[in-house]
Amino acid sequence: MSISYGRKLSRNKKNFDSIELKKSPFFFNQLNFKELKTRLQGSSDLVNLEVGFGTGDNVIFQSEERKKEIFLACDPFLSGNVKLMKKIVFRSTRNVYFTNLDFTSLFELIKDLIFNEIYILFPDPWPKKKHNKRRLVNCEFIKKLELITSDNSKVFVITDDKDYSDQINKCFLDRKFFKLFELKQRKINFSKLNIFPTKYYNKALTEKNEINFFIYKK
Ligand SMILES: C[S@@+](CC[C@H](N)C(=O)[O-])C[C@H]1O[C@@H](n2cnc3c(N)ncnc32)[C@H](O)[C@@H]1O
Repeated sequence: MSISYGRKLSRNKKNFDSIELKKSPFFFNQLNFKELKTRLQGSSDLVNLEVGFGTGDNVIFQSEERKKEIFLACDPFLSGNVKLMKKIVFRSTRNVYFTNLDFTSLFELIKDLIFNEIYILFPDPWPKKKHNKRRLVNCEFIKKLELITSDNSKVFVITDDKDYSDQINKCFLDRKFFKLFELKQRKINFSKLNIFPTKYYNKALTEKNEINFFIYKK
């Protein structure tokens, strides 16, 4: 089943946003990734990835903490891409590259790269049983992560959905490639963990949901 992103935007707004995004030197898709990839492969800088960046706050925060590293970020949500583009301009960010490709499409471009840290913050939980198969983090997804990580890589996954949390941890541990390096629950203080308190983190706090924060390593 195909999932439609940004349904509520009018066609004119979508066209306008797409044209604006293509003007940004930090926006990429299948058409212009080759040049960026050549640069990444020829550089010794650490490269990180955020999947489902939302409005881009965490990737901007990380990029400012680690200015010598490079950050790639994907989210098919068009309005979120425009928000991130504006943050990049406003803060004169130089080390964040972003795309509106979904992870599966992005993976085809990056499958021979290695990422140092991978962030997946509050992936859509799709709580109805019949929609569970739409969840981003599943065993197929983890197989893909195995190909783009090394012994030193870390994968951060955060969710406030109990059922999704169990599925995520089971899939990671069943695959036996990654080990659970750290698990933090309940009173998570994001600032101490060096993660930006994103929109969905604040929503989880308001709703008093238990948050599970998994860190996986090989
Ligand atoms: C619940 S929001 C969380 C956003 C942000 N990480 C936060 O913590 O506020 C989930 C995000 O994942 C994005 N998303 C959904 N499917 C995706 C996919 N296949 N690849 C990349 N991002 C995806 C959605 O567009 C949405 O912005």
